[in-house]
Amino acid sequence: MIKIAPSILSADFANLERDIQRIAAADYVHVDVMDGMFVPNITIGIPVVKSLRPATQLPLDVHLMIVQPVRYVEQFCDAGADLVTVHVESDSEENIHAALDKIHAKGKRAGVVLKPKTPAEAALPFLDKCDIILVMTVEPGFGGQKFMADMMPKVAALRKLINEKNPDCELEVDGGVDPVTCKTCIEAGANVLVAGSAVYKAEDIPARIAELRG
Ligand code: DX5
Ligand code: ZN
Repeated sequence: MIKIAPSILSADFANLERDIQRIAAADYVHVDVMDGMFVPNITIGIPVVKSLRPATQLPLDVHLMIVQPVRYVEQFCDAGADLVTVHVESDSEENIHAALDKIHAKGKRAGVVLKPKTPAEAALPFLDKCDIILVMTVEPGFGGQKFMADMMPKVAALRKLINEKNPDCELEVDGGVDPVTCKTCIEAGANVLVAGSAVYKAEDIPARIAELRG
């Protein structure tokens, strides 16, 4: 089954509780954490994850766009993240392994994220211990950007690697997913779709979530 993870980056931050409840029909709440260093934008952090935790029963899918995420993964887990993903570009291979291990030691699900210019093979050293792999279909940093269809061969290559080596691992895409591009992502092999503007700009959010399932 295709899972939908609305990104609260497109929610109204003055009305986060209301906007979380509006996506109750989804599967995950996608939380974009940016530090102004790894990406040229600053968003939200640990206290917001903590406040969101009691506001929804959905798992919190925390996408860390920060340098050296190993420094903070445990705090995000303690704040209530259920799934924490870290960018392979954000630290050394050794420290990315350490970050994934720390997330697992907290009993949470862990994964790696690939920026558009990062090849599928960059996920290989971590594939065995990943519960999820996230492929960016825009440059990370901002919502509302144009979907990069040229990422689909990478999604297909990762689907093949996952099926061969770790079939329980989920494959997520993030950026520019809408009622048209969702179909492309599903065909390429993604099973979790992040969508920010496509969900929050919709007149009927539950209907849009259903539509994005393809
Ligand atoms: C971008 C974020 C995305 C973003 C997606 O760096 O990781 O999660 O919010 O927004 P849309 O769906 O509007 O492209
Ligand atoms: Zn994201």
